[in-house]
Amino acid sequence: MMIMANSSFMIISVLLSLLHLASPSPSLKSFNVVKFGAKGDGKTDSTQAFLRAWEAACGFSGYVQIYVPHGRYVLRPLIFRGIHCKTSTILFRIDGSIVAPDNYYELAKSNSWIVFHLVNGLHIKGGVLDAKGKSLWDCKLGHGKCPMGAQSLSFDNSKNIVVEGLTSINSQMFHITLNACQNVRMVGLTILAPDESPNTDGIHMERSSQVTITNSDFQTGDDCISMGPDNQNVWIEHIHCGPGHGISIGSLGREGDQGALVENVTVKSVTFTGTMNGLRIKTWAKPTRGRVQNVNFLDARMNNVLNPIIIDQNYCPSGSCPAGQASGIQISDVTYKGIHGTSASPVALIFDCSPMHPCKGLTLQDINLSAQKTSPRSECNHAYGRTIGSVQPSSCLR
Ligand SMILES: *[C@@H]1O[C@H](CO)[C@@H](O)[C@H](O)[C@H]1NC(C)=O
Ligand SMILES: *[C@@H]1O[C@H](CO)[C@@H](O)[C@H](O)[C@H]1NC(C)=O
Repeated sequence: MMIMANSSFMIISVLLSLLHLASPSPSLKSFNVVKFGAKGDGKTDSTQAFLRAWEAACGFSGYVQIYVPHGRYVLRPLIFRGIHCKTSTILFRIDGSIVAPDNYYELAKSNSWIVFHLVNGLHIKGGVLDAKGKSLWDCKLGHGKCPMGAQSLSFDNSKNIVVEGLTSINSQMFHITLNACQNVRMVGLTILAPDESPNTDGIHMERSSQVTITNSDFQTGDDCISMGPDNQNVWIEHIHCGPGHGISIGSLGREGDQGALVENVTVKSVTFTGTMNGLRIKTWAKPTRGRVQNVNFLDARMNNVLNPIIIDQNYCPSGSCPAGQASGIQISDVTYKGIHGTSASPVALIFDCSPMHPCKGLTLQDINLSAQKTSPRSECNHAYGRTIGSVQPSSCLR
């Protein structure tokens, strides 16, 4: 038997090595940004050098890498365009840091700092983005007249994207945005901005599908992850969020977002620490139509979270909604299962749904949320569903 096993093993390994010889080993063509004039000295503007490296890599058909060695590279806002690329996948390997110019206006005069537009096949690996957002936040917090600021990294109309092991620090606005993208995988990200920094959402997505975000840490001043209008098939797992405003579907139903559909979203194994919200769905109190359906919130740990579970269909900052209007967004089939930990407020569950389109198909299963002093309670308006197993605080669903 021993000999038999050995000989079949040998046959298999010979076959494997033949196969290996037969297929041409992929030779990686590497484009080092330094060869295109970039300088990692923290001072020299390397924008044009990065664009030249991109153009060169893009024009090469085959397996291509753009390499950013150790150092600090100053970039002004730039767009990497994929429309003419011959490559199937570009590996963007970053050992260094990409930093913003010192004057915040250099980024803030644009909406986005680093943009990938119409790119099909990109793998960003490693790297640090430091947008130096503090001086712009100081302007905003001082109620001066300030620009809105730039998002640090944006993917626009792109597909087959992997972002792995990237760190983004102190963005002016959102750290990472996806707009009309398909098949995006983000893993091992570190997103850092202080608690009080305005609008520094971690990842914001719109009109995108097949998005997975896993094994990542978000410490920021706004939503850790937010899903705007029209996102389908989103998977979020093994995330730490806090400080921040939590993980949010919405806001939806602003004017102009007619017919938005958010569907098939799973948020699993997330720890929230000291956040404003945990798992939130938020829609404007406006008649704009749309749907949120088939959402699973599974296995979350809440550590001192102000609103651990919240549906707010009466969102209306600065009182811009005429009285008597209700949200036109229909929320259905949302499951909360295995949500444990502590609420920082006496209301741990809030389902404040639209009187015109009550929430239906809500499921609460295996929930245990406690509060420091009193035992917390739940509050429902126009919310229908069921409970399974033990639910603490007791459910107010109809
Ligand atoms: C839901 O999304 C996941 C990916 O997040 C996907 O694998 C699955 O096929 C989707 N389900 C449906 C019914 O589309
Ligand atoms: C809920 O959690 C508290 C605090 O961890 C614990 O004391 C209590 O036994 C739990 N209740 C249930 C029903 O599991």
